[in-house]
Amino acid sequence: MKATTTALSKSLLAWYKENHRDLPWRQDRNPYRIWISEVMLQQTTVAAVIPYYERFLTRFPTVESLAEAPLEAVYEMWAGLGYYSRARNLHKSAQALAATGFPKTATELLELPGFGPYTSRAVASLAFDEAVGVLDGNVIRVLTRVYGWQVEWWTQKAKPQLQTAADEIASLGPSHLLNQGLMELGATVCTPQNPTCLLCPWKSNCVAFREGLTQALPLKKPRKQSEVWVWVPEIYRKGEQVALIKNNYAPFLKGQMIFPGTIRQQNQKPKTFDLKHGITHHDIYIRIENLTKSPIKSKAKELEWVRIKDIKKINPSNLLQKVLQQVLSS
Ligand code: ADE
Repeated sequence: MKATTTALSKSLLAWYKENHRDLPWRQDRNPYRIWISEVMLQQTTVAAVIPYYERFLTRFPTVESLAEAPLEAVYEMWAGLGYYSRARNLHKSAQALAATGFPKTATELLELPGFGPYTSRAVASLAFDEAVGVLDGNVIRVLTRVYGWQVEWWTQKAKPQLQTAADEIASLGPSHLLNQGLMELGATVCTPQNPTCLLCPWKSNCVAFREGLTQALPLKKPRKQSEVWVWVPEIYRKGEQVALIKNNYAPFLKGQMIFPGTIRQQNQKPKTFDLKHGITHHDIYIRIENLTKSPIKSKAKELEWVRIKDIKKINPSNLLQKVLQQVLSS
């Protein structure tokens, strides 16, 4: 294994040096800039991230500026990327990091809000060259193919094998180049469909290439069936204001401010509805109750009246914006 790993790391370094894309977060090894890019890249593609990234760093050029900003301003810069808990965690962690500085190891970074194994390892390796492997979808694809591993990579059982393989490659150093190289290989050559194996620095070592398994690997993750929910948000209006409530009744956007209302799960999609919205494994069918009456007393206590134009700042989810648009246009 060791001899092969050495050969792999050598050819990967040479390939990366000649072939990597010039991406904005590769200009330097600043941990703050790398952290922001890695969190954004978990949401969407490189092409989609670039404009968000530039805007975010212009508005918050340092970890201190992010820490000092109001959460609403962070939401505003995050709007469109989805998963607003990530924006909240960025803000929280920025406050800790501005006070203490960046720790340099994945183990220490893991303690911070929103830093999972992936982000912690990516920042420790890319910014501080800690010799830890970074496992994302791209890297998992490259590793399962090169070693010909028919493993259920999405299970906890398979993680140690993959993590060890990634760590072994990173250990040959410099880990920041090897990890970027693995990600780049997965993103540009060892792609999910139609990989360009003839351009790959690893083709002579690759089990999947040799055995015609590139289509079959990595194994396909079984798709989780979406749950069907019917949400009836109640829209109470008072002039330019509408009522929101802290969500303790719907299984999505938990703990966030949403419209009051009712929700139920059912087996099939309903015959009639006003809108449909998808949030990870939830197909939400929406029937809007546009109420002119005042809310009942027991409910009224929990309501918070918010100006319509401020809703985006309190909860930037597309779901609320869609409902509002429908109400305002009807
Ligand atoms: N995807 C995740 N992290 C990345 C990085 N640093 N460069 C390119 N693509 C990535």
